[in-house]
Amino acid sequence: MSLASHLLGRVTVLTGAGVSTASGIPDYRGPTARPRKRPPIDHRDFVGHASTRARYWARSMLGWPRFRSFEPNLAHQALARLEASGRVHHLITQNVDGLHQKAGSQRVLELHGSLAQVRCLACSALSHRDELQRRLLETNPRLLEWTAALQPDGDADLPDEATADFVVPECLACGGVLKPDVVFFGDNVPAPRLRQALAQADDAQTLLVLGSSLTVYSGFRFVLRARERGQRVVLVNRGPTRADELCDWKLDEDVGAALATLD
Ligand SMILES: NC(=O)c1ccc[n+]([C@@H]2O[C@H](COP(=O)([O-])OP(=O)(O)OC[C@H]3O[C@@H](n4cnc5c(N)ncnc54)[C@H](O)[C@@H]3O)[C@@H](O)[C@H]2O)c1
Ligand SMILES: [Zn+2]
Repeated sequence: MSLASHLLGRVTVLTGAGVSTASGIPDYRGPTARPRKRPPIDHRDFVGHASTRARYWARSMLGWPRFRSFEPNLAHQALARLEASGRVHHLITQNVDGLHQKAGSQRVLELHGSLAQVRCLACSALSHRDELQRRLLETNPRLLEWTAALQPDGDADLPDEATADFVVPECLACGGVLKPDVVFFGDNVPAPRLRQALAQADDAQTLLVLGSSLTVYSGFRFVLRARERGQRVVLVNRGPTRADELCDWKLDEDVGAALATLD
């Protein structure tokens, strides 16, 4: 049976890191994932410690030019076409890379936010990451001497001595602390955004999960809820997921190849 025959009624798509691996962005848990050199950024650690923020932004300053240059792949492009043709009604992504929009998808709900945006923790002002990049480079030109290796979340690997005198820019409006507008480990998806995402999931007959191990509860909850509500759950993922036993159908295949069959 083909993927198309399993997509009944209205379709809401939930994507994860596996949709972007073909673009060159490593996932966390797939066979191509690199062993992580350090644990993911913890929200409370970031908010509570200036030294954590300095390390984060120093790595991010070196990693951002590469991260922002990644291009969408066949999976992102297929999803943009499926939106345009009306076959996919809602697209919720756990990714923070902006590649769905770059491929032309118009209605994307970024569940975990976007690395392209920066938010002030004091006044909530949003600014573009590129603008902060200019300020980071102006203030810390010597950091460029350190070579960098990209991590999945867009930061680079650096020894402590490289970041010791790093100066982190403050919010231009109020002097507050700046944070990438993404949901770090230990933080919650903002309530209005979660409500909107759940409404989009509820609106479908089929929930199609693409390239996500669903290890993170924030994504897994959509499967649990769909089950409770009697909706269909279809997975396309290479390797095991947390929902293998819960879904109606699973295709263990490359997401780009699977979506190409829907055209
Ligand atoms: N691109 C990004 O923005 C990015 C990258 C890494 C992590 N993250 C964040 O970390 C969390 C990771 O959870 P997750 O479930 O999204 O990712 P995950 O790394 O836990 O799972 C990705 C899954 O996709 C599978 N996969 C990889 N390439 C595939 C392909 N071409 N076709 C089919 N399957 C493929 C892997 O085997 C794995 O099971 C998310 O919350 C996300 O915000 C984001
Ligand atoms: Zn501010």
